[in-house]
Amino acid sequence: AQLYAEIEQATVTNKEQLEQYRLRYLSKKGAVTELFEGLKTAAAEDRRALGQQLNGLKNLAQDRFQAFQEQVEAAEQTTAAQPAFDLTLPTVPNLMGTQHPLSIVRQRIIQIFERIGFNVADGPEIETDWYNFGALNFADNHPAREMQDTFFVEKTDTPSQDILLRTHTSNVQIRLMEQVRNSPGGFRPIRSIMPGRVYRNEAISARAHCQFHQVEGIYIDHNVGFKDLKDTLYHFVKELFTKDTKIRFRPSYFPFTEPSAEIDISCQICGGSGCNVCKYTGWVEIAGSGMVDPNVLTNCGIDPDEFTGFAFGMGIERITMLKYQVRDLRLYFENDVRFLRQFEGL
Ligand code: PHE
Repeated sequence: AQLYAEIEQATVTNKEQLEQYRLRYLSKKGAVTELFEGLKTAAAEDRRALGQQLNGLKNLAQDRFQAFQEQVEAAEQTTAAQPAFDLTLPTVPNLMGTQHPLSIVRQRIIQIFERIGFNVADGPEIETDWYNFGALNFADNHPAREMQDTFFVEKTDTPSQDILLRTHTSNVQIRLMEQVRNSPGGFRPIRSIMPGRVYRNEAISARAHCQFHQVEGIYIDHNVGFKDLKDTLYHFVKELFTKDTKIRFRPSYFPFTEPSAEIDISCQICGGSGCNVCKYTGWVEIAGSGMVDPNVLTNCGIDPDEFTGFAFGMGIERITMLKYQVRDLRLYFENDVRFLRQFEGL
């Protein structure tokens, strides 16, 4: 009975154990054979019953041997078919986020201006009329106010106190000039850029959106001239695009600059041969600019007889379109990963 239990509980997982099992229970010197030997010396009347029991034991031992043998063989076959490591399997995909194209270009613009001594200034997106229009020399009833369709948050009886979503980041220029004028050490030169989100009440299309991003800049010091404006923007365009990008200054009008110019560059999409982005002119406008109007300096408490300056402003969406051949600016806000993934690693 003891041997019976032992055989029933025996386990075999590999070839060596299988051989040990065979030697122990089934071989000529094994435990079962030994018991059969004992049968010869048993009393004659017990022999029949004992023989039956021993045959049962032998059958059990043989059946289990067979089952173990099959198991071990099957296990050997699967390990042979599958090595522990399959080095040809693809890796688990690494789902890293990408920088948004507008962020890439904003960073690049900041980098270019920082290298030539501009710092970065920030200001509110919800603004009073004064900082967005009034201080920038937009007369109360001046038609220039209608140049930029505005989202009003609150209309008041005093137009300069109306609250609105800023239509450009020029509000930061005004705040900066005020701050510098009021600083304890007195006036110090300003050389800053102001990246940020702006809002205009415009129908959304491939070329316009009701929210977009700008980088404006301002430089105020003794003897800043139009030459400095041109030098700075030439440098910027050639750094951001290529050395052979062409630039032209076109006379324009802004209430806050005099004289004013719009800056066109040679079309980066068609290389000047004509396409719908440059409307077949070969030129695309990328920025507005000009010498800060003396009235603006006066509004900020800076003496226009002592200081002069230039300012400029550009839309990041438009610049990104030209840099990365994006033909529809709605793509920037849809967050379609098929679009965003194309900027991976830039
Ligand atoms: N503020 C102007 C705009 O948003 C851009 C600009 C800035 C033009 C500075 C001239 C000088 O369109």
